[in-house]
Amino acid sequence: MTLLSVRDLTVQFQTDEGVVTAVDGVSFDLAAGEILGLVGESGSGKSVTAKSLMQLNGGNAIYGGPGKITLSPRGQDPVDVLGLRRERHMGVIRGGAISMIFQEPMASFAPALTVGQQMVEQLRIHTDLSRRAARDLSVEMLTRVGISDAVKRFDQYVFEFSGGMRQRAMIAMALSTKPALLIADEPTTALDVTIQAQVIDLMKNLVAEFGMGILFITHDLGVIAQTADRVAVMYLGKLVETGAVRDVLRHPAHPYTRGLLAALPQLDDLTAPLIPIPGDIPGPLDRPAGCVFHTRCAQAVKGICGMTVPSVTQVTATHHASCFALEVPA
Ligand SMILES: Nc1ncnc2c1ncn2[C@@H]1O[C@H](COP(=O)(O)OP(=O)(O)OP(=O)(O)O)[C@@H](O)[C@H]1O
Ligand SMILES: [Mg+2]
Repeated sequence: MTLLSVRDLTVQFQTDEGVVTAVDGVSFDLAAGEILGLVGESGSGKSVTAKSLMQLNGGNAIYGGPGKITLSPRGQDPVDVLGLRRERHMGVIRGGAISMIFQEPMASFAPALTVGQQMVEQLRIHTDLSRRAARDLSVEMLTRVGISDAVKRFDQYVFEFSGGMRQRAMIAMALSTKPALLIADEPTTALDVTIQAQVIDLMKNLVAEFGMGILFITHDLGVIAQTADRVAVMYLGKLVETGAVRDVLRHPAHPYTRGLLAALPQLDDLTAPLIPIPGDIPGPLDRPAGCVFHTRCAQAVKGICGMTVPSVTQVTATHHASCFALEVPA
């Protein structure tokens, strides 16, 4: 059952230097009970895509043309997210049908309230739990994300938490309302590997238990391999490859995906050279014409890749990539 459908999403920002295109014609689906990984280098548009799902990109964001985001939470009518014009209507979705774990945990907590007060408040808004039950569930969730002495921590302020603990508290708060869709933006980057494994396990359990769908953003392909069912690879605002994790990581079709994999350290062969992708990611104000990756691509064909945008090509029924090398000449 499709939980989220994103079609031709384009997001631009009006800035002093000009109009920045952060997301360019992105389409993907996410089913209930599925974890979709979104990967790409810094600045590729992952967070902007995620924030679009909750209209959190700020006042200077322009959502382009035919772009459409449809959310179909279990048993409810589909919601046209970009069509929700009133803050009040979007507020019902945020924290209820959709929860988001932000890259910056401080953004999720108010400094003047205790962590517990905020968790209970959120549960009281989005569920019909009593104050007592909301407190118990909050303490349970803090424990489940690996916060020891959760009863004491419940009454503390966020500035009393370490960075990793803030991250975990935010994850606990986001998961406590059991949203239909969880957007997790680099949820485990600040955590050490054992806690990271614990948090990933918790998310997987909740997917199995409640059929929650997760959009999991990271630039760590190792985490994607452990966590996601499908993966979407993003570069300069474009999705260049999508497919089942196994297919994409074992048989990457796009030169960018191959580049990302070649740049990963191999734990089983520490002498293997790391091969970085040549060149720098261009600034959003000078996005290349044609295929956005052609300026860094060893396989770029003169006169084609710099001129024309490649279309989405089917590699297998469940694996797609946008690259001229894959297109069969007509
Ligand atoms: N409010 C804004 N105003 C102007 N430009 C913005 C705004 N928000 C994002 N951008 C630009 O959009 C592009 C995509 O940003 P985004 O935060 O989505 O990248 P990201 O893939 O999440 O990167 P990272 O891995 O570093 O988190 C960047 O070039 C960024 O500078
Ligand atoms: Mg980001």
